[in-house]
Amino acid sequence: MILSPSLLSADCGHLAETLKNLEEAGVKWVHWDVMDGQFVPNITFGQHVIKGLRPASGLFFDVHLMIESPERYLADFKAAGADMLVVHAEATVHLQRTLAEIRRLGMKAGAALNPATPLSVLDYVLDDLDMVLVMSVNPGFGGQKFLPATLRKVAELRAKLNDAGRSDCLIQVDGGVNLENTGALVQAGANVLVSGSAFFGHPPFSERLAAFTAAAC
Ligand code: DX5
Ligand code: ZN
Repeated sequence: MILSPSLLSADCGHLAETLKNLEEAGVKWVHWDVMDGQFVPNITFGQHVIKGLRPASGLFFDVHLMIESPERYLADFKAAGADMLVVHAEATVHLQRTLAEIRRLGMKAGAALNPATPLSVLDYVLDDLDMVLVMSVNPGFGGQKFLPATLRKVAELRAKLNDAGRSDCLIQVDGGVNLENTGALVQAGANVLVSGSAFFGHPPFSERLAAFTAAAC
């Protein structure tokens, strides 16, 4: 299991220091929640902030775009240093083209699905994906309650990927992830877990990472 702490729950006044501390604690990925105030009600940070912090970190930058028409900004996020770009299936009209373009630019490509979005929207883009992000809350805010239907969705997605010969495709779960649901999510087939409030609210980072790792087994 890969843990990808969400900086949405970190202290924004000290992001460079936080990135350094995460790396020292043994974390490998970090999750950037980019919000535009349109696709979701909230506004956070964008490509300029990520670019400014790229030199401060060797972590894998996992960038979750909660923005309308993300295809407008793919090259900008590549230039900012994103390693993986995840776009919402609900936010881009030409999902296949957007995913192919992310890969063409040299990044890993992911598609995110809101809780009410069926898995069938992925049926014809399975070969274009490095990861699927299953939202376990409605996106926009940290600290929300995990939606239990997510477990069934993850299990069905894992079966779909295996049937399609894509067992290598990662499944990420984001929203309300905590030590209590981590084991069940991994059991259902999730590989990457995002955690905001349940991670940053419980320092030190190294101990929290160890607790999530233990909960995953
Ligand atoms: C929600 C974001 C999440 C959020 C998770 O819109 O996509 O990444 O930061 O936060 P927690 O873990 O607190 O639910
Ligand atoms: Zn996210």
